[in-house]
Amino acid sequence: MIIGVPKEIKNNENRVGTIPAGVNELVRNGHTVYVQATAGEGSGFSDEDYTKAGATILPTIEEVYAIAEMIIKVKEPIESEYNLIKDNQLLFTYFHFASHEPLTRAMIERNAVCLAYETVERADRSLPLLIPMSEVAGRMSIQEGAKYLEKPMKGRGILLGGVPGVRPAKVLILGGGVVGTNAAKMAAGMGADVTILDTNLARLRYLDDIMPANVNTFMSNEYNIRELLPTHDLIIGAVLIPGAKAPHLIKREMLKEMRPGTVLVDVAVDQGGCIETAKPTTHENPTFIIDDVVHYCVANMPGAVPYTSTLALNNATLPYAIQIANKGWKKACADSEELKKGLNVVNGKVVYRGVAEAFNLPYTPVEEVL
Ligand SMILES: NC(=O)c1ccc[n+]([C@@H]2O[C@H](COP(=O)([O-])OP(=O)(O)OC[C@H]3O[C@@H](n4cnc5c(N)ncnc54)[C@H](O)[C@@H]3O)[C@@H](O)[C@H]2O)c1
Repeated sequence: MIIGVPKEIKNNENRVGTIPAGVNELVRNGHTVYVQATAGEGSGFSDEDYTKAGATILPTIEEVYAIAEMIIKVKEPIESEYNLIKDNQLLFTYFHFASHEPLTRAMIERNAVCLAYETVERADRSLPLLIPMSEVAGRMSIQEGAKYLEKPMKGRGILLGGVPGVRPAKVLILGGGVVGTNAAKMAAGMGADVTILDTNLARLRYLDDIMPANVNTFMSNEYNIRELLPTHDLIIGAVLIPGAKAPHLIKREMLKEMRPGTVLVDVAVDQGGCIETAKPTTHENPTFIIDDVVHYCVANMPGAVPYTSTLALNNATLPYAIQIANKGWKKACADSEELKKGLNVVNGKVVYRGVAEAFNLPYTPVEEVL
């Protein structure tokens, strides 16, 4: 198969769809890979790294789209890319269709085959191509939270791990899923006093088993949250209710119960946030302050660490990309329930129920296009 890797053109996106190690694997499997010049630069990979791995560099994005049967990307195509997409071309990338009607309609019109990273789903309902970004964001939430607890950043001026004779900071983590668990690991490793809240008792039991002694688990409910807020220095929002907006676990009036300089990192801001006062911010201007409480609400946290994020994403996407390239998308999706769930728009038809429902478009069962 002929595979194309364009350079991401979305504002501040430094990740890249395929790394040189991925090119090497695809070429070893008999495929041809074209990479747009400087596509890997933002993640630390030069054109020479790609050529050494067996890719051919093409100077423009137009040439990459024109030659490729399958495009491997990171973000959804933006408007200027729509017209480059060819009839029947396969796009393997994040789309998040249900929140973007013009994109959905454009992909229908272009007659593209859209396999969306975010809906590839395992039998246990986990989302293998979203997990790596949650791992990055969870670990990063503590790194950022620790920084914003510093006085010059308007925080309380407390060191996360404390020092001998001085108590460490108290970290409260709302939600013990992928983000929450990774946050807890980092905070615990830095010596903080950590509490994880979740509504899922089985999950709390598991976390209690695997976490070090400076991590405690607690049932998530309004009463407990109110009780914990005044004594915690750093609060991480990491809840998710699949397919729904995040619940507002911290209401606006609760900010007054926190000490000045408390830091809130609402990782769940991309689903509306679990803190009522959260609104999406960017890496250029990541924080704002309400009632003396610092809010960090960057909606694309992994974007700040493109090297790590690109590698983490590629580790997860490459095995699927190889299946698709070796078998062709139809057979690969027919053989794999996981990949089949990734199909969203195929040759003008919406084959993912949630997307069809979101925009009142006709729904075609995926089996009909295989
Ligand atoms: N901002 C970013 O850059 C970024 C990056 C990655 C992920 N995210 C977001 O982070 C959020 C968490 O993702 P995840 O992968 O950890 O999800 P997950 O499904 O692994 O974990 C969510 C957890 O929240 C728990 N939960 C649900 N309701 C709760 C409640 N009322 N109180 C406490 N816990 C509750 C669930 O039981 C589950 O354990 C999602 O909204 C995701 O989109 C944001």
